[in-house]
Amino acid sequence: MRSMVESRASESARHIGKPLGAGEKGKPMKRTIRVGEKAVLRVRVSEKDVHYAGGLVNGAYVLGLFGDVGTEVLIRFDGDEGLLAAYSNIELKAPVKAGDFLEVTGWITRVGNTSRTILLVAHRYISVTGRPFESSADFLGKPELVARAEMVSVVRKEQQRCAD
Ligand SMILES: CC(C)(COP(=O)(O)OP(=O)(O)OC[C@H]1O[C@@H](n2cnc3c(N)ncnc32)[C@H](O)[C@@H]1OP(=O)(O)O)[C@@H](O)C(=O)NCCC(=O)NCCS
Repeated sequence: MRSMVESRASESARHIGKPLGAGEKGKPMKRTIRVGEKAVLRVRVSEKDVHYAGGLVNGAYVLGLFGDVGTEVLIRFDGDEGLLAAYSNIELKAPVKAGDFLEVTGWITRVGNTSRTILLVAHRYISVTGRPFESSADFLGKPELVARAEMVSVVRKEQQRCAD
């Protein structure tokens, strides 16, 4: 499965290890993500994150991943981690289990004065079946939506270090 950010990521890879600008006062850095452009995190759910019977994780697990993707979006948009102000429209659509591979995607939908609204979705793209062998697992032809949410984060004016 090809991530929508991969082409953009390879473009950014040239800049690994060095910021795109000095970022000193009065000299903003260049943004590396725009409104609507997607950031992606892929992660495998570990046995150590299981909280409920049947190998299920708790609901907060996916929100933690959303927080990480939202933070990447803010760093690339503003050069700052920002502060999470609110989550809304949280929907947990399917149980998440140990062994699942998840792809978490986030993108900015609205830019306010200091607030940034970010839409987040999590899809399962590999599932451990345990059949016919204990170690059997399937790569899902159509990734399954497991959760979605909207977050609002705040980056104070003086901490916004980037421009288009
Ligand atoms: C989030 C926080 C910085 C907001 O500070 P604040 O001084 O109350 O913010 P303001 O009332 O000036 O609002 C700032 C912006 O956030 C928006 N905002 C604040 N709370 C919001 C909410 N619950 N929902 C949507 N937007 C919200 C405001 O509309 C405003 O947007 P704008 O600048 O684009 O017009 C502050 O409440 C805070 O520090 N909270 C704790 C954050 C935290 O610890 N998060 C977890 C770890 S990251």
